[in-house]
Amino acid sequence: MARPSPNATAAPRLIDLHPAPADLRALVLQGMDRQPRQLPAWLLYDAEGSRLFEAICDQPEYSLTRTEVELLQTRGTAIATAISNAISDTTATAQRQPAPVVLEFGAGNARKASPLLGALAPPAYVALDISRSALEATCTTLQAAHPGTDVLGVCCDYGAARGLPPIPALAGRRRLGFYPGSSIGNFEPHQACALLGQFRRLLGPTGLLLIGVDQPKAVERLEAAYNDRAGVSAAFARNLLVRLNRDLQGNFEPEAFDYQAHWQADHSRIAMALVSRQNQTVQLAGRRWVFQAGEALITEYSVKYDPAAFLALARAAGWRPLQRWSDDRGDLSLHLLAQAESP
Ligand SMILES: C[S@@+](CC[C@H](N)C(=O)[O-])C[C@H]1O[C@@H](n2cnc3c(N)ncnc32)[C@H](O)[C@@H]1O
Repeated sequence: MARPSPNATAAPRLIDLHPAPADLRALVLQGMDRQPRQLPAWLLYDAEGSRLFEAICDQPEYSLTRTEVELLQTRGTAIATAISNAISDTTATAQRQPAPVVLEFGAGNARKASPLLGALAPPAYVALDISRSALEATCTTLQAAHPGTDVLGVCCDYGAARGLPPIPALAGRRRLGFYPGSSIGNFEPHQACALLGQFRRLLGPTGLLLIGVDQPKAVERLEAAYNDRAGVSAAFARNLLVRLNRDLQGNFEPEAFDYQAHWQADHSRIAMALVSRQNQTVQLAGRRWVFQAGEALITEYSVKYDPAAFLALARAAGWRPLQRWSDDRGDLSLHLLAQAESP
């Protein structure tokens, strides 16, 4: 077990590298000029978006979070052992190697990190997230629950980060990337491959990656999961328009758009969109945008991969599979990967 560090009782540190307003504007203009219009999924996560996402996780139709937490809780020891074996296998000395530092990409409320930290007892945990408010709360809660681990937050777009800021707790230590929630599915496959390559660079040549991947399942279950009866998924999507109004001087009327979530079998994905109810013109970022009735603004994709399809993607990005854990229903897999070229 890691011993409590001198920082354990101090307020968790946060490094703020959130994209500047001009970068946000450029991304939105680019997305609005596309056909069909589509914005990066991370824009869904302002403070209210993060709150609504947590509420989605509690909806009866959305089982992904419950399944993944249970998998991490029940297989935590096996996962920690596999990580420890992977580290020993690549180290010349017979001595037991220290646990790696954990970097979570898109930590949210880190409800999945907690069982992992409990099993691994890493010296440090770095939460990367675009949502500053979620990050602050998460780091405070985690630091209190895991006083032996140094907890640090980095507010950034993990896909665009050129590198990590200098963090003493990471120096000279092996890194385990943690990417649960099947967030890889928010990216189209070519973008997902690039992101897995980005994780290789951020984690370094001896880095490992533990990633949760949701699998294809009955269409009715999938469509219900992303269009819950309580309307939380719809509120989450419409909150994007509220955010755009606030941050880029827009005048969207969220209720003038219907929320839709449909399975697209050809792409093995759920496509989530706000669809204009009528012909309308919207002001945003100093420009006028015409929406025809029925025209969609894609808010998010959720691509589903069976294990073979995911591993093909991971291999193409330079990762090699070490082990996989799955729930009894075969809904979701946790894959442990090492760099293909690792020593
Ligand atoms: C779907 S939630 C998953 C949260 C948590 N990891 C889980 O599995 O429940 C995605 C989280 O990642 C963050 N996020 C999404 N895209 C991001 C990006 N490009 N860079 C940094 N954080 C991002 C969001 O703010 C949110 O907290």
